[in-house]
Amino acid sequence: MNNKEQILVIDFGGQYNQTIARRVRELGVYAEVKPYTITSDKVKSLNPKGIIFTGGPNSVFGESALQFDEDIFKLGIPILGICYGAQLMAHTLGGKVETAPTSEYGRTDMKVLDNSSKLFKELPEQSVVWMSHTDYISSVPSGFKITANTSDCPVAAMESVDKSLYAIQAHPEVMHTEYGREILKGFVVDVCKTNGLWQMGKFAEEEVERLREKIGGGKVLLALSGGVDSSVVAAMLSKAVGKQLTCVFVDHGLLRKNEAEEVAAVFGEGGDFDLNFIKVDARNRFYEKLAGVSEPEKKRKIIGEEFIRVFEEEAKKIGTVDFLAQGTIYPDVVESGSGSSATIKSHHNVGGLPDYVDFKEIVEPLRMLFKDEVRKVGLELGLPDELVFRQPFPGPGLAIRIIGEVTEEKVKIVQDADYIYREELKKSGEDKELGQFFAALTNMRSVGVMGDFRTYDYAVALRAVKTSDFMTAEFAKLSWDVLEKITTRIINEVNGVNRVMYDMTSKPPGTIEFE
Ligand code: XMP
Repeated sequence: MNNKEQILVIDFGGQYNQTIARRVRELGVYAEVKPYTITSDKVKSLNPKGIIFTGGPNSVFGESALQFDEDIFKLGIPILGICYGAQLMAHTLGGKVETAPTSEYGRTDMKVLDNSSKLFKELPEQSVVWMSHTDYISSVPSGFKITANTSDCPVAAMESVDKSLYAIQAHPEVMHTEYGREILKGFVVDVCKTNGLWQMGKFAEEEVERLREKIGGGKVLLALSGGVDSSVVAAMLSKAVGKQLTCVFVDHGLLRKNEAEEVAAVFGEGGDFDLNFIKVDARNRFYEKLAGVSEPEKKRKIIGEEFIRVFEEEAKKIGTVDFLAQGTIYPDVVESGSGSSATIKSHHNVGGLPDYVDFKEIVEPLRMLFKDEVRKVGLELGLPDELVFRQPFPGPGLAIRIIGEVTEEKVKIVQDADYIYREELKKSGEDKELGQFFAALTNMRSVGVMGDFRTYDYAVALRAVKTSDFMTAEFAKLSWDVLEKITTRIINEVNGVNRVMYDMTSKPPGTIEFE
């Protein structure tokens, strides 16, 4: 029997399912998403304080209906059904679900009919909720009462207090639902009687314990990139199994200035973590492979493949390992097929899985977390702020910020320019507003004049974007003063540059990176 307070989120394929788990965690209660194929025996063994059935794209009637273990309703554990989950509850327990005469999408006014409901204790009579449905509950199962409606939805919420079963047609987990947090809190705290004492630090602690149990005396291998995700995994595994963990850090010569040294200072000899740290200086290998190559996709492919070769060679030296650890986080997890989110495949951060690494199992301790949650865990584990709040950095590194052929000389130019850019933006405080910013080296050389001499040097391009999801981005309106200072410093201090340009392209039409 598991005694940890937790809420199980049972996934019927909706878009917001991880968000539900995240909102519950924000209430101080641990939550985990499980596929809808979970059996009632398994649910029982996990001993959750409550269960949430999520939304999903299917209909509860007809051919697309998903088969799930109806005995979950008999366990006596409180259940909240959301959207599809609400309809599933009504349909399974003898109510009626039909195609609604009018679908509801987006903001809708919901009216609370019974303010004694634990879900609606903190709600006014009318409030805005986020709806997204074509079917609706037209009659409730016996023993249930209707607790809210909207103008097009007679059963916007229903409940059976005796059975601890609750259902809501709207999505309380999305921000557009005005009192979403209060609705979820009503269920998680008041109905499920949780204590709300769980914190991200507990996740770190418990996950370390879980890893220790799982790994036992086994050996673990991790490709450490120095980015936040793999660093957090390294810190966790180090706490769990110490020297049974070996981290391989490949310096491909395309990192930002001082980055390889910074990673080695945190994880290497004399650093804060107990683990085996192998730093591979593969700079020349990568430069040799990249010589004469200017086509962006070819560069990426070469780097991805070479990275795997280097990693494999190191793995071979280590011999058989029991586990290969990866820093996969939730947004990397690709769910395939609507309504069948049980089949998930992972996306690999470092350009694919190595063909030759002798391991038995993959461990991915962050696969349920969002980036900001990973950062919290990183801080809990004692990683330095610079590492935890590092901006995203692409696997192929500076190679995709150098237009055309990559050479050691060009890498040095872009590293130095980028360092100045980052330093000055940090000093000005303007970096706080930005999603990503960096210097790139255009392949353009132009004529200039410095100290009465003609120059013929490269142009550096500066890029800074505001974005929340990196799928779209707008260019940042940095102040002229800061841009002027950066430009002057780059031209004075970086050899081989005589012109600096600022990129004002948003995404779309531009991408964030240059290649
Ligand atoms: P783009 O350039 O496509 O970038 O607008 C969106 C985000 O993805 C990052 N990026 C990469 N990350 N390998 C990575 O690990 C890559 O090949 C790669 N290309 C782009 C980019 O830095 C931005 O955050």
